Amino acid sequence: MKLSFAKKLTASYLFVVAVTLLFTGVFLSHRLKRSFLFHLEESLSAQTKLIAENVPADPKSLQGWAIAEGQKVGGRITVIDPSGVVLADSERTAEEVHRMDNHSTRPEVQEALVQGSGESMRHSATLNEDMLYFALPLNLKRGVIRFALPVTEVHQRVTAFQKDLLKVGAAAFLVAIGVAWMTMRKISEPLRDLLSSMGMETQDELGDLARTYSTMAARIEEKVRDLSRERTQLGAILSTLIESIVAIDHQGKLLFLNPAAKKLFGIQTEDLRGRPYLEVLRHSPLNEVLSETLSQRHTVQKEITLHAPEERVISVHALPVDYGQGQTGVLAALHDITELRKLETIRRDFAANVSHELKTPLTSIKGYVETLLDGAVEDTEHSRSFLTTIQEHTNNLSRLIDDILDLSAIESDRVVFRFESIIVKEVADKIMKALEPMAKAKKVSIKLNLPESLPKVLADREKLAQIIMNLIDNAIKFNKAGGRVTLSASPQENMLLIKVEDTGRGIPAEDLPRVFERFYRGDKSHSREVPGTGLGLAIVKHLVEAHQGTIEVRSVPEQGSSFQFTLRLS
Ligand SMILES: Nc1ncnc2c1ncn2[C@@H]1O[C@H](COP(=O)(O)OP(=O)(O)OP(=O)(O)O)[C@@H](O)[C@H]1O
Ligand SMILES: [Mg+2]
Repeated sequence: MKLSFAKKLTASYLFVVAVTLLFTGVFLSHRLKRSFLFHLEESLSAQTKLIAENVPADPKSLQGWAIAEGQKVGGRITVIDPSGVVLADSERTAEEVHRMDNHSTRPEVQEALVQGSGESMRHSATLNEDMLYFALPLNLKRGVIRFALPVTEVHQRVTAFQKDLLKVGAAAFLVAIGVAWMTMRKISEPLRDLLSSMGMETQDELGDLARTYSTMAARIEEKVRDLSRERTQLGAILSTLIESIVAIDHQGKLLFLNPAAKKLFGIQTEDLRGRPYLEVLRHSPLNEVLSETLSQRHTVQKEITLHAPEERVISVHALPVDYGQGQTGVLAALHDITELRKLETIRRDFAANVSHELKTPLTSIKGYVETLLDGAVEDTEHSRSFLTTIQEHTNNLSRLIDDILDLSAIESDRVVFRFESIIVKEVADKIMKALEPMAKAKKVSIKLNLPESLPKVLADREKLAQIIMNLIDNAIKFNKAGGRVTLSASPQENMLLIKVEDTGRGIPAEDLPRVFERFYRGDKSHSREVPGTGLGLAIVKHLVEAHQGTIEVRSVPEQGSSFQFTLRLS
């Protein structure tokens, strides 16, 4: 059974009261007894002195005197000679006195003979009672007179006192119990209330409090651990997110900016918490979105264009977030749609370009056909040249359509590549033969620099031919009369680097990144003189990448260009 806190405290309080009472009782009884005995001794010694003066000189009358005197003073009188033999005793008959043992060893007798008086308290076997003895030497060395009084009365008085003390003590103890109990209840009441508010049935308030406290502490610790774990997980998720996240509080102070967002805005500072977003993001167009969301308290969806550190198109989705206590901040998710927009532009341009590329030769063909039908067909000389032009245009058209089909087939992965081990020189030799006439016409010399020792590559024979063909075709087309084209190759790590260099007109630096775009044809004024659709390099790039290689271009205007791509070794 559990003792309540009040009961425990009461019990210990009462224990202290009881012990105090007990000690006081014992001490008082002891003092009382001592004081009684002291008085008894005083009267004993005084009486003994009086009696000693009356001891008759005649030994024969001693016994009779002792009995009479003893009755008179109400005590035991004994006369003992110096050798310890009992001469008379008021409590004995004459015969009995004779039979009494020698009293020289009694302490009071010895003391009286040596020191002039002796005293002793002990149990008397003769009287079967506790007695206090007092002895004095008699004049003329006649022996010792001893007077004894029973101590029983002292005992009785002490016992009576103790009984009274016990009664008073018990009463005091009862009062103490009452007072203690009431006080303790007063103390423990609030404790009990506290515990019952925690949903505890109380038996022992302090014990329960301790237990409840430790359970609570454990629960809080667990909660804190859960929270910090969740926080870490959330932090990890936010920091690995590709999307940029920006959070601000109701005062426009930054709460959070994930790494993607920092990168997007080119912010290097580590800890931005608590800084105003207007200051951190400066003139960013995101500011407007955040301000609007913060003031209007509704979701804002907008597309913004960042110019620094990079030109980026961003779709912002900002929504008001209630942080509690009626404080509304903003959480904004930024989605980079630059690539998406670029693709859309390319698609749009593609459609426009294709239509344009188809339209030009078609218009021309239409015109010639109409002229022929209008009567020029009769004019054999002109009609032949018209028809030749029509044929050229149709050839161009058909090449254009082939290129478009090729490109779309490669892009949509519909082309099957048959990879095999190939000696690059074999492919290059064939292309050389095919392009020889064109090079001659342009007065351009082609040089192959492909040593026998070159390793074989892993490629699709036809596609590799298409790559090299396109590059050399360009190198001849955009060359000057008397120019040179060089095809060379060298192994690099586990790849073969193939270079097509020319001494042509080169490409302006600003156009370099665009040469692999579809329909890109460089300087329009030059383009007119050189046939082509601008799809060649786009196809080349796709083909090289399908071979898991890369292609690069370097060029110095008016000096020449160098296209280099890599192929895997077989
Ligand atoms: N070797 C080069 N020297 C100078 N300019 C070049 C060279 N190669 C390509 N270019 C430039 O890049 C543009 C794109 O080349 P691409 O091969 O894609 O198209 P094209 O040769 O004009 O047409 P197509 O190859 O479809 O017949 C060219 O129009 C030209 O302006
Ligand atoms: Mg080309």
